[in-house]
Amino acid sequence: MRRYGEKVKKLSILTLITSLFVSTFSIADEVNVFNARHYKADGELYSKFTNMTGIKVNLINGKSGALEKRIIEEGADASADLYITADAGRCGAMDAKGHLQGGLTSAAIKAAVPKSFRTSKWVGIAKRARIIYYSPERVTGAELSGMTYEGLADPKWKGRLVIRKSSNIYNKSLVASLIENNGKKATAEWAKGVVANMARDSKGNDRAQIMAVAAGEADIAVANTYYLALMLSGKKGAEQQEAAKKVKAFFPNQNDRGTHMNVSCAALVKGAPNKANAVKLVEFLLTPQSQEHFTNNTFEFPMIDGVSPSPLVVNNLGLDFQQDMKTKLASYGKNQAAALEIMTAAGWK
Ligand code: FE2
Repeated sequence: MRRYGEKVKKLSILTLITSLFVSTFSIADEVNVFNARHYKADGELYSKFTNMTGIKVNLINGKSGALEKRIIEEGADASADLYITADAGRCGAMDAKGHLQGGLTSAAIKAAVPKSFRTSKWVGIAKRARIIYYSPERVTGAELSGMTYEGLADPKWKGRLVIRKSSNIYNKSLVASLIENNGKKATAEWAKGVVANMARDSKGNDRAQIMAVAAGEADIAVANTYYLALMLSGKKGAEQQEAAKKVKAFFPNQNDRGTHMNVSCAALVKGAPNKANAVKLVEFLLTPQSQEHFTNNTFEFPMIDGVSPSPLVVNNLGLDFQQDMKTKLASYGKNQAAALEIMTAAGWK
């Protein structure tokens, strides 16, 4: 009996020590963010969150590939709470691999983000559109009238189009959305047409495509909206600023489903040690002050209503366009492998 009693006593002391230990750790209110966005100014935003809530933000910055690899390796012993990256296709792919969990379903999140731009596991925190840039000297209004993504395969653009490589996530997501809307067969035909229209083998980033149109190597380019504003801002140097002035933006599919939209997304990692804090941080990223921070620093469109994009976006890209709000962004991850397969089969470098 005595021995049993001693055991109980020892156990209860152990339990007390353990619970003190655990509560000390949970008192250290923190949230671990694996962050693939590379904006120095984002640090200020996270400091504001800490000041408001007392929750420390541990930022682990890296490239999306490296951060994803670490999340996959850590598996159930996840150290990350949130994974923040560009492109719904990346968040969707992490979901498909089983590394995310549900929980981004609070009333604040649902009220802020339209249904097609979120799932229970990841949500859009800023928007971008993938659009057409053209040379106003070499492309007429009549040629562009009613232009769609589907129309990029029209033989009238033969030798006139530039777009980056098929391995690029923005292209995978665009093509995934075409699969979602038109089916694999039609998209495979389309991809062949696009490749036949290319002015050169795909190379370079989105800004390089805009530069190619400015330099007369091509008449139209596909690139994301924020890059034009970034180039016009002068942050990428005088040459790119001048080039950006030589192209105009065109928003495709205005007469049907709207222009292809994508997001920077925040994903809730499976096994997140600070899940509740992660939800709080996502809610904070969707407040007007955070949204203004994003729009002014990255030239993305705000995720929420009532916040204006940067004046550089408003003045040079315009706001008056119909967004595709119907195609679920979750389809970008779902159709990603098929999209790459289709592009590769068409000879898209
Ligand atoms: Fe980008």
